[in-house]
Amino acid sequence: MDAVKDFEGRVAFITGGASGAGLGQARVFGRAGVRVAIADVRADALAGAVDDLAREGVEAFPVVLDITDRAAYARAADEVEAHFGDPITLLFNTAGVNGFGSIETMTYDDFDWILGVNLGGVVNGLRTIVPRMIAAGRGGHVTSVASVGGFEGSRMTGPYSAAKAAVISLMESFALALPAHGIGVTVLCPASIRSNISEAHLTRAAADASGVLTDDAFVESLREVYAHGMDPEHLALHLKRAIERDELYAIPYPEVRDDLERTFGRILDAVPDTDELDLEGAEQRLRALARFRESARARADATGAVT
Ligand code: NAI
Repeated sequence: MDAVKDFEGRVAFITGGASGAGLGQARVFGRAGVRVAIADVRADALAGAVDDLAREGVEAFPVVLDITDRAAYARAADEVEAHFGDPITLLFNTAGVNGFGSIETMTYDDFDWILGVNLGGVVNGLRTIVPRMIAAGRGGHVTSVASVGGFEGSRMTGPYSAAKAAVISLMESFALALPAHGIGVTVLCPASIRSNISEAHLTRAAADASGVLTDDAFVESLREVYAHGMDPEHLALHLKRAIERDELYAIPYPEVRDDLERTFGRILDAVPDTDELDLEGAEQRLRALARFRESARARADATGAVT
């Protein structure tokens, strides 16, 4: 599979394109000649983003969309393809929300909102647009924005970390399937972005009960953290390079290496070299798995399916 290197003329669908990381992507890929559609749940922010981009010479097509709404997602994709007269071949699942609060106080509403946008919204993006990309047969690239938070648990952002872990896993799975269709896959895992995510709760429908902290002092302390996050354009340039190199993981934050080493080290430490209670067990399991893989491959060869 050839990685996407020439972006000129391709059509991109960028969720969360009105702000932060998504707006940075619209700038960087727009300047590279991509025809960008920016989708966002906030119509006012979209209008502002379109104006900002136009001043910089990037003509973006705005779509008001709540990514948790599947029927609206399909309509939005139709609208974008009709507007540009070409299929979407670059998908950026960037929209996301975060909610801080102690894991033991998070409510069903909190889980539904945070998992709904960060995981459900990504699933909807993949299910709506990937089949169109495959059918169009013009290759392309699919990016989802997860988080380094997806590699470990967090007392204060439990549902968010769980959603991001699932997104990482999903992209690992798509990366096994999409190259056969000429489509690359990247999961971008940022640590901190200069963005408006401290105000994510403002996009949320009223909740009956919530453990998410939204008092002014707390939101202000979050704003201060994100004010020092990576410039979204800078992050989008890292992403562009990862796409050009067809890299599955983009984690352009040197400061997270030690934490990741500790996390993965802890996981590997749980795996024994041998199982002294069942010395033959591992061999038998591996042989059974190899037989299963062999028969699955034979079945796929017979039906012409891609494995
Ligand atoms: P942001 O708040 O500046 O931008 C996110 C955009 O998504 C907003 O414009 C918002 O209106 C939109 N959005 C929220 N819910 C939506 C929905 N249901 N449908 C459509 N659009 C919706 O935040 P940021 O930081 O740029 O976030 C982008 C991605 O980066 C998210 O997936 C976030 O989880 C991820 N991320 C952010 C980090 C940070 O430090 N800000 C760190 C790691 C990951």
